[in-house]
Amino acid sequence: MPTITFLPIQKKVEAQIGESILDVALSNGVQIQHACGGFCACTTCHCEVIEGNQNLTAADENEVERLEVLDLRTANSRLACQTKVKGDVSVRIVNLD
Ligand code: FES
Repeated sequence: MPTITFLPIQKKVEAQIGESILDVALSNGVQIQHACGGFCACTTCHCEVIEGNQNLTAADENEVERLEVLDLRTANSRLACQTKVKGDVSVRIVNLD
């Protein structure tokens, strides 16, 4: 079972393969902002992948377009609502609720 480590709060939780980072966070009490409700429309669920990029689904065109408008974007930025886990990852939450 994959694990997700959330930074900077240092919380490690288990996930099901195919679950989004946002769903895993919210079901484990990790308060990532998600103003649009997980529909790839707001970018408030922005997170930065610290480890395990290869264990995540690739960003689709919609996610890439959303990410391009972010001021704080890095090469490893993803939207938690669009990113599904396939293995262990570590992510930094940019907007804690
Ligand atoms: S929750 Fe709005 S883009 Fe992810």
